[in-house]
Amino acid sequence: MKHILITGSTDGIGKLLALCLAKEGHFIAIHGRSDAKLAAILKEIKQQSNNENVIGFLADFSDLNAVKKMAEEIAKKMPIIDVLVNNAGVLMTNGSSGTTDIRFVVNYCAPYALTNGILANLKASDAPRIVNLSSAAQSTINVQALEGKTGLGANEAYAQSKLALTMWSFYLAEQEPSITVVAVNPGSLLNTKMAKEAYGQHWSPAEKGVDILYNLSMTDLAKSGEYFDNDKGSYATAHVDAYDNRKVEELLRTTKTLFD
Ligand SMILES: NC(=O)c1ccc[n+]([C@@H]2O[C@H](COP(=O)([O-])OP(=O)(O)OC[C@H]3O[C@@H](n4cnc5c(N)ncnc54)[C@H](OP(=O)(O)O)[C@@H]3O)[C@@H](O)[C@H]2O)c1
Repeated sequence: MKHILITGSTDGIGKLLALCLAKEGHFIAIHGRSDAKLAAILKEIKQQSNNENVIGFLADFSDLNAVKKMAEEIAKKMPIIDVLVNNAGVLMTNGSSGTTDIRFVVNYCAPYALTNGILANLKASDAPRIVNLSSAAQSTINVQALEGKTGLGANEAYAQSKLALTMWSFYLAEQEPSITVVAVNPGSLLNTKMAKEAYGQHWSPAEKGVDILYNLSMTDLAKSGEYFDNDKGSYATAHVDAYDNRKVEELLRTTKTLFD
């Protein structure tokens, strides 16, 4: 039985992955930002999986203080974490997170803060693994935008946040050789709330994304420090900036200054 934490598991591929792994009998921690939705999904997953070992954590990822508080709570309640799936993400929203674009905060800064807050618990596992949800959309980071000094359109902010997550993923894999850290594009326009809200259509069923998240979380498919592109069905080269050490260091320097 593995101890698995999946963020953004009240909807979309995160929820479906949580249900699938709960059915296999693992200990599952789900996460949501709405108390009522989290409680409803917790009940649903327990009932459908017949697994009582499912717990829930609450935090709005647009609020980094809430993320850090949640990390402390998780660190106490889950002494060992075998798998962390950094899945929560946002593209279209009316929400805000202060000066820095909400997509940077939810999609990149929050998983960064959460992961650092529970690193010791991950390292307590025999074979820890982190799966970071990237995207085919990856765009060169405007550091001024990350700092909140200039604004971006929703799609551009999303693409920059996903490249930031991918760059940090590669960085973390190097910093923490005992942890397998993999970044993945689960497939473009999967049939979830995100694709519906942004594009009003989908190209593939949500299950395509669930299957790759399952394989990267549970099988020997995961390769640390690499990027799996599920549009291609294989490992692939991420955006060129993810291999530029100077840019990666600049990103991490800014991130530590602003968000640690
Ligand atoms: N769908 C695609 O085609 C596609 C393609 C490439 C990458 N991805 C990535 O895959 C991941 C899952 O996406 P999805 O398609 O399953 O989307 P989704 O159905 O919209 O689910 C997103 C999840 O993230 C949560 N979330 C959103 N904003 C949050 C916030 N401020 N605080 C805490 N949780 C928040 C949502 O909570 P609520 O339930 O409260 O809304 C939900 O549980 C995302 O990282 C996305 O960027 C998706």
